[in-house]
Amino acid sequence: MASTMLQLDYAHVLTAAIGPAHGLTPAEISRAAQDVSKLVARIERERKAGQHRYRELPADRDQLKTVKAAVRRFKPGVENLVVLGIGGSALGNIALQTALNPPLHNLLPNRRRRGPRLFVMDNVDPVQFANLLDLLKPAIKRTLFNVISKSGETAETASQFLIIRDLLTRRLGPKNLARRMVVTTDPQSGTLRQLADDQGWFTLPVPAGVGGRFSVLSAVGLFSAAMCGVNIDKLLAGAAEMSARAAGRVVRQNPAALLALLLHAFYTRGKRMHVLFPYSFQLKDLADWYRQLWAESLGKQVDLEGRPVIIGPTPIKALGTTDQHSQVQLYREGPNDKVFIFLEVEKFAHDVKIPRGKRTPETLKYLEGASLARLLDAEQRATELALVASRRPCLKLRFPRVDERTVGQFIMLWEAATSIMGGLLNINPYDQPAVQLGKDYTYALMGKPGYEKQARQLAKRAGKPGKYVV
Ligand code: PA5
Repeated sequence: MASTMLQLDYAHVLTAAIGPAHGLTPAEISRAAQDVSKLVARIERERKAGQHRYRELPADRDQLKTVKAAVRRFKPGVENLVVLGIGGSALGNIALQTALNPPLHNLLPNRRRRGPRLFVMDNVDPVQFANLLDLLKPAIKRTLFNVISKSGETAETASQFLIIRDLLTRRLGPKNLARRMVVTTDPQSGTLRQLADDQGWFTLPVPAGVGGRFSVLSAVGLFSAAMCGVNIDKLLAGAAEMSARAAGRVVRQNPAALLALLLHAFYTRGKRMHVLFPYSFQLKDLADWYRQLWAESLGKQVDLEGRPVIIGPTPIKALGTTDQHSQVQLYREGPNDKVFIFLEVEKFAHDVKIPRGKRTPETLKYLEGASLARLLDAEQRATELALVASRRPCLKLRFPRVDERTVGQFIMLWEAATSIMGGLLNINPYDQPAVQLGKDYTYALMGKPGYEKQARQLAKRAGKPGKYVV
C-alpha cells in the first residue's frame, strides 16, 4: 500500500554523499541523538505540565465543534471572506488556502468553488487595501470579515478593522454589522476582545498558551480553511499523526527530532541558512509560514538563563523550478553556508501531458509524450544532485500527495521541530521580544497614549532630518 506519511530523506547530508568536510557521519548523528532523545522526553513531560500547548490542538474536540458551528452559521450566502490579520494571524491561513484549494480559486465561478473567495489582508498598503474596498463595496452584503488578532492590539489589524467597521456601519447600519463580522482573539484580554464583547459580535478563541505562529491549527487557521471547503478533520488527523511520531524517543523514527538534530548539527558547523525549496506551487506559501516560524521562534539574543547568545538560523524560501533560474548559481558556487530542504510531491492531483506534434523541432522532441509532473520531478532531482555535486547538504521532505492529511503532518512536523531546535539552542522559542519593540515604537510614532516616553526617545534618535540624505 502506498504510504500516506510525509517522509524525511537525509541521505544527501551524509559524508558518503557530500564528503567529510561538509557531511555528517552516521556515528555523529547517533551521538547527537542521545541528547535529542532526552530533549524529546523532556518536552513530553512539559506537555503533561501544560506547556507546548499547540501540540494539543489536533485533539481539541471542543475547538473543532466551535469552528464547525461557526462555519454552519456564517457560510450560507457568503461569496467573499476577508481575513484581517498579520504574521501568525495570517500566514497559516494563506498557506492552507494555497495548498488545499485550486491555485485560481478566487477566479472560479461560485458553483465551482467549495466556499467563498478568500482575501487575506496582511499589510496596510493603502493601494492594495483601497483596491480591495473598491472590489468589495458592491458585494458587501455577501462578504464576511474575519478579524484575527491574538493580542487585539496590533496596529495593522486594528486600522483595517476600523476601516471595515466604518464601511459596514455606513452601508448596512450598526445592527447588521454583527452579521458580517467574526472576531478571532484572546478569550479574555485585549481591546478587540473588549469591543467584541461590548458590541455582542461573534468571537472565536485563540487558545491560551498558543502563540501566533503556532496557531494555524486553532480557530485562527481553521475557520477560514473550513469556510473555503478544506476538510479540517483530515487536516487535524494528519497533525495528530505527526504529533504522535514527534513524541517518540527513538530519534531515527521521529522526523521532527531528526530534522531538528540535523539542522542544529549544521548550524553548529556554520551552515546557518536553511533554504526550504518546494517543488510544488501548492506548497509555496507553506514556505512563507515556515520562515516566520523558524525565524521568530529561534532568532534570540539571550538563552534560557538570560546569558547573551545572539543565535538563530536564517530561514530562506525558494520555489522550484522558478528559483533555479534566480538563486541556484549562488547556492552552488557561493558560500557553502546553507542547508537545502526540498519538498517533493510523489503524485500530483493533476498532470498535463506534453503532446506530440508534426513539426516539433528535433531538439525539443525529448519533451514529447512526457508530462509537466515528470519534468518538475526531473528538475527537482537534477537541482538536488547538482547541489550534492557541489557538496551542499540537501534534505528532502517527500509528500505522497498534497492533501489535508499531509499538510497537517507538515505543519506539526515543523512546529515540533521548532520546539526541539529551541531546546538544542537553549532559547525560548515561544516569545518574540524584538517584534514587540517594533510594535511599541509604532504605537509611539502614531501617538498612542502610554507610549509618550518612547516617542520622545525616538524623536531624539531620529536626528536632524536630511543630514545624511543625498
Ligand atoms: O507569531 C507571533 O506571535 C506574531 O507574528 C503575531 O502573530 C503577529 O505579530 C500578530 O499579532 P496579533 O495576532 O496579536 O495581532
